[in-house]
Amino acid sequence: MSNYLEVIILAAGQGTRMRSSLPKVLHPLAGKPLLGHVLDTARQLEPTGIHVVYGYGGKQVIDTFEEESVHWAEQVEQLGTGHAVAAALPGVAAEATALILYGDVPLIGRNTLQRLVNAVSGDRLVLLTALLDDPHGYGRILRDRKGRVQRIVEQKDATAEERSVCEVNTGMMAMPAARLKEWLGRIENDNVQGEYYLTDIIALARADGVAVEAVIDDDLEEILGVNDRVQLAALERSYQRRRAEELMRDGTMLIDPARFDLRGTLRVGRDVRIDVNVLVEGEVALGDGVTIGANCILRDTVIGEGTTVEPMSIIEQARIGPNCQVGPFARIRPGTEMAEGAKVGNFVEVKKSRIGPGSKVNHLSYIGDTTMGSDVNVGAGTITCNYDGANKHQTVIGDAVFIGSDTQLVAPVDVADGTTIGAGSTITKDTPVGELTLSRSKQITIKGWKRPIKKSG
Ligand code: UD1
Ligand code: CA
Repeated sequence: MSNYLEVIILAAGQGTRMRSSLPKVLHPLAGKPLLGHVLDTARQLEPTGIHVVYGYGGKQVIDTFEEESVHWAEQVEQLGTGHAVAAALPGVAAEATALILYGDVPLIGRNTLQRLVNAVSGDRLVLLTALLDDPHGYGRILRDRKGRVQRIVEQKDATAEERSVCEVNTGMMAMPAARLKEWLGRIENDNVQGEYYLTDIIALARADGVAVEAVIDDDLEEILGVNDRVQLAALERSYQRRRAEELMRDGTMLIDPARFDLRGTLRVGRDVRIDVNVLVEGEVALGDGVTIGANCILRDTVIGEGTTVEPMSIIEQARIGPNCQVGPFARIRPGTEMAEGAKVGNFVEVKKSRIGPGSKVNHLSYIGDTTMGSDVNVGAGTITCNYDGANKHQTVIGDAVFIGSDTQLVAPVDVADGTTIGAGSTITKDTPVGELTLSRSKQITIKGWKRPIKKSG
């Protein structure tokens, strides 16, 4: 095998059966475009170059991956898989080993591809094949009496006898790039579909006396492609089951692996417990002993050990410390930090704020653009009025503050250490240390007042 590896990914097809204006390879699986999965797996092989053959929806495809170091090759007309690979070849070094992948076959595994690439030696062409109970639609692998691969016949070109073969072409293959270039220059389109078949190079290799080896993939989910939304949904389930099983093997308790979704990466400590219908997105890390209640969404968040997130909570771009309690029904928005032992209870929204150690915001509150010290108690219905219609302003709350229920803190405002605020106050000025501050109109009683009576007629 050559030291260079060049990966060619075919992604030019429109995907008519998706019935979508989005190019097929941009449809998301676990929140990431199909092609993104293939690119990530390809990158793990540390190739010299990755070449993507694009066609339908070209600009949209390229824009989606503009950050990636990929060589783009346009296939203006889709004249077949052989024609597609040929579009990438001018950029592929002749001394490299070429590996051909598909932008719509997202679950192919790194280890399987490594086996494929490792099997290339000398001139040898290596195919990834699979044994299917129902081979319908696939190209069939035809072997001679000694079991040597001779050629591939497409479903549409096959005789009844050939169709009874259950070993199929997954489409993925590896070989010396120099030979690939040579063979592709010789293929023709004299077949039922009038296409340039990549698969025709197998017979050409054999005619040149080159050995063709088939690596059989036993993991049938790896080779599945996406042609319609039903197949996409099925692959999503496969993907999620795999992620759930990995997590459980790593010691995480998933109450129901079928009701857990990961769209990104999740790092977990020991004895993490995740209840049903939890959605994890982006980069999430959960410390030892964290418990996530049912129906929570966690996005780009770090949660410290021993913390409990009660059901129905949404946490995004936040850092939650150890031994905290969140929810039920809490919404923690970007830029929130909760220090050790802090508590955010039901129907509380927190944005871009720090909740200090041991501080509690237990009920029905909005805390935005706020820095809060330790051991603060925020009463029910407290609102930080952080927005004046044009700008956002800061609220600073010191240590050991007690805020009575139904208080509005009109920012910018400073609530000093040890302040007590009477319930129902609208606080517009900074408060002094350790005192009771309140703003409240006097309560009056109108003696003898009668409720109105509904008029008759
Ligand atoms: C191909 C194989 C078949 C194999 C099957 C596995 C050929 C001739 N046949 O058949 O042996 O069993 O895949 O799924 O290779 N594409 C382009 N440009 C083109 C044509 C195709 O980029 O001009 C891309 C498509 O977007 C798709 C992939 O190549 O991702 C496969 O093309 P498709 O037409 O689906 O090939 P199959 O008929 O399924
Ligand atoms: Ca296909």
